[in-house]
Amino acid sequence: MALIRLTPICLLVYLCCFGLFVSTVLGAKARHFKWEVEYMYGAPDCLENVVMGINGQFPGPTIKARAGDTIVVHLTNKLHTEGVVIHWHGIRQIGTPWADGTASISQCAINPGETFVYKFKVDKAGTYFYHGHYGMQRSAGLYGLLIVDIEEGKTEPFQYDEEFNLLLSDWWHKGVHEQEVDLSANPMRWIGEPQSILLNGRGQFNCSLAAAHNSNGSGLPGCKFRGNEQCAPNILHVMPNKTYRLRVASTTALASLNLAIGNHKMLMVEADGNYLEPFWVNDFDIYSGETYSVLFRTDQHPTDNYWISVGVRGRQPRTPQALAILHYQTTTASTLPTLAPPNTPLWNDYSRSKSFSNKIRAHSGSPSPPTVNHRRIFLLNTQNRIDGYTKWAINNVSLTLPPTPYLGSIKHGFTNAFDQKSPPDLFQNTYDIMKPPSNPNSTYGNGVYMLKFNTTIDVILQNANALNANVSEIHPWHLHGHDFWVLGYGEGKFSKKDEEKFNLKNPPLRNTAVIFPYGWTALRFVTDNPGVWAFHCHIEPHLHMGMGVVFAEGVHLVGNIPNEALSCGLTGKMLMSKKHN
Ligand code: C2O
Ligand code: CU
Repeated sequence: MALIRLTPICLLVYLCCFGLFVSTVLGAKARHFKWEVEYMYGAPDCLENVVMGINGQFPGPTIKARAGDTIVVHLTNKLHTEGVVIHWHGIRQIGTPWADGTASISQCAINPGETFVYKFKVDKAGTYFYHGHYGMQRSAGLYGLLIVDIEEGKTEPFQYDEEFNLLLSDWWHKGVHEQEVDLSANPMRWIGEPQSILLNGRGQFNCSLAAAHNSNGSGLPGCKFRGNEQCAPNILHVMPNKTYRLRVASTTALASLNLAIGNHKMLMVEADGNYLEPFWVNDFDIYSGETYSVLFRTDQHPTDNYWISVGVRGRQPRTPQALAILHYQTTTASTLPTLAPPNTPLWNDYSRSKSFSNKIRAHSGSPSPPTVNHRRIFLLNTQNRIDGYTKWAINNVSLTLPPTPYLGSIKHGFTNAFDQKSPPDLFQNTYDIMKPPSNPNSTYGNGVYMLKFNTTIDVILQNANALNANVSEIHPWHLHGHDFWVLGYGEGKFSKKDEEKFNLKNPPLRNTAVIFPYGWTALRFVTDNPGVWAFHCHIEPHLHMGMGVVFAEGVHLVGNIPNEALSCGLTGKMLMSKKHN
């Protein structure tokens, strides 16, 4: 009798233990979030403005997870009159290409009042972020951090006591809708340089935190804070003689940045969710779309505080440095640092930028690239005119996105959803990249590079002169759905013999890589992730003006796409007619 009574309890105990067993050995969790995107007032740089927030927060909430976890975000669009999507930058979306959050590519924009569920696995520890990927919603402030810790029981190739996050962005006082109209106008009205650089959503417009030092020549008056302003500087509270990890992500719309901590050297250890062969720096460059982790040791005078400075590079800066304070808790937080903020290296010292980029190597034991490629795609980046409108084009095609998202239209065979002709793999070999384009005409296009599944693709990004002045700009290119190996950077026009300089030994795996002015960058990746993936310049106005391409691979292997991702364009009509049958 007693035995019979005990049995269900035993069973229960057994099940609980089993459940516990599963969760400690695999350790994976599902993490649920309910988010509402809405416009709200904010004062990111002390001046009141309208920002795009999530659950009343700007920047959006930081997601913290462990590798192997499943993230489930119920995203409700509270914007009233515009659609929205959120892209999880750096997450490869293996098996869930419909959750990539790219309007017109992986899904339909979420209509006002509607909810879309993003469910995906974060399979690799690292520093990531998320942001709007519809129109210029990233510039409007729709972004936040996504931090993935290593699986329980596993260790990283470095150690530290505590960590901090810094999300870098740039801020304009003009709203994004007006910016979009300006950029699309004829003649185009350039948005100019940002008014402020924000660190974790905080900046100081028209005043200098470091005014007391005035040796930094900013000439701005000192900032005054009354209380708990949203724009008060970030303070990183540290204890002496400890090692800290600083995770830095850049979601800037335009600015290339450089970060330094007064008197503290940094050890670069992670980039875009991949470990690096560690190397020491006094400062480092970070382009839009990139993330880094650095370690630093608090081995300086514990009675002092130190400035963390972030300044603009790659474009003539018209935006003051952003500053944060490294506060040794052995002194008071309000004590201003004795040392002036570190200077940002000269904006156009490109050889310095290149030497930094060339130091980035994969950590030993990282996967190495296949030694041969199956297809090589050359992508010439040019500024062009189309019917008088200023655009950016790739091999003379300026990207315009179609009303039916590619993932659905390819999977369901809607051949009239977009241009079926492939965009070119090459550009004219007589093209002179040093001169303004002699035939500056290009066309709009929405064709797709159809990549054979499980093949090795090389992309050679080729930079060139822009339209008018003798300038060639920096473009950080970001690939969705993959990490690529950065095989090398070079000057001038790529030629076959440049292949000899490729680094096939320890090239870093990344999801974003820059092309320097008048230079080329060589990337390699394997088409092992069924889906349709954007590959584009991460500068928001450049993408808006057409600077991107679309890759598709193994779409026939993609599982059932949720209807919510297909509810527009031709796939939307398909769903309606199915309902009526
Ligand atoms: Cu972070 Cu397609 O971008
Ligand atoms: Cu660009």
